[in-house]
Amino acid sequence: MLKGKHIILGITGGIAAYKSVTLLRLLVKAGAEVQVVITPSGKEFITPVTLSALSGKPVVSEFFTANTGEWHSHVDLGLWADAMVIAPATASTIGKMANGIADNMLVTTYLSAKAPVFVAPAMDLDMMAHPSTLRNIEALRSYGNHIIEPAAGELASKLVGKGRMEEPERIAEILSEFFASRESLKGKKILITAGPTHEKIDPVRFIGNYSSGKMGYALAEEAAARGADVALVSGPVDVKAINPRIRVIEVESALEMLDACLAEFPAADAAIMCAAVADYRPAERADSKIKREGCSDVELRLVANPDIAATLGKAKRPDQKIAGFALETDNEAANARSKLERKNLDMIVLNSLRDAGAGFRTDTNKVTIISRSGSVREFPLKPKSEVAADILDSLFSPE
Ligand code: CTP
Repeated sequence: MLKGKHIILGITGGIAAYKSVTLLRLLVKAGAEVQVVITPSGKEFITPVTLSALSGKPVVSEFFTANTGEWHSHVDLGLWADAMVIAPATASTIGKMANGIADNMLVTTYLSAKAPVFVAPAMDLDMMAHPSTLRNIEALRSYGNHIIEPAAGELASKLVGKGRMEEPERIAEILSEFFASRESLKGKKILITAGPTHEKIDPVRFIGNYSSGKMGYALAEEAAARGADVALVSGPVDVKAINPRIRVIEVESALEMLDACLAEFPAADAAIMCAAVADYRPAERADSKIKREGCSDVELRLVANPDIAATLGKAKRPDQKIAGFALETDNEAANARSKLERKNLDMIVLNSLRDAGAGFRTDTNKVTIISRSGSVREFPLKPKSEVAADILDSLFSPE
């Protein structure tokens, strides 16, 4: 999977820099083109001569070459890369990356990189456990960077704990698995619903809910990044789709969402029903603004909206799959399971409003995935981008 891939290997000043030589060798051996970018303190630990000999390319460290004045473009480098891996990543570099302190070539390249970034922290256990480091690592995660967690073991200080850089073999494997996953949904068409629906009362008012669309958009981005063509039927949200493989179909009400889904579903291999569809809409919609004068009481009669997931569930062919969501407050698992049956879904993603950090408007979610076959997998609280990956893994490669 690494053959022909353009990889930037960022090396910073930590003892584990010696392991970067092995990582470089493994990447080159697997057929990748590797450009090493090293920080000034990285060069105290490992020489550019070794690295350029192994990569077959001059190592980049400064913004320009001192004697010739040749400018090294971090922008070009950032665009060239299919992936950037920073191994080892010291507390200092992680802090700079998290806060945009672009005082060396490595951090400027990181800030310019459009490709996915992998960060393999390596430091002493107390530095690793410091709230500042943990906060910066969380910031990187929230930017969508992949953190390759350090292992626990004996550290250079002879202290034993978490902080040892992951082994080069494993880092190379993670990169390879990543590129494999990028192709895993190639040729698949996926329909995703996202966001709330707005049910109009009059031209200026509606019934809505707190859904931000973040989970549905994260699913769309992850599916598109894996090569799928995504039709994203979205209620009114502030989030924007980034990947050009995502076709956004903007709708407002549940009825519009149903129409769009019915039009898209026949061509889809799978549908993921992530929208928080309003269960009811006003029975009548006023054509002009409802005025206050003369109306001390207003009664709003509501009628049930169609169940979009269940409608697609009925129309589902054997070659199609549907995943739904269930947001529950009580009897979570039992309610989710009965929804799965009732709507003829293949999988249901349960999130409970009882879990802090899960549900509406957050950047994280904590889910339990229940499959039709009865398997139940509980996941910890994670960024929605990682939850999206777990959901797609479960839907397309059930264990
Ligand atoms: N759903 C849908 N159309 C609706 C209501 C829900 O497509 N009119 C989908 C949601 O996108 C979600 C799943 O059905 O994937 C479950 O939604 P939820 O609101 O939890 O379930 P409801 O069927 O509305 O049941 P209740 O509100 O009674 O819990």
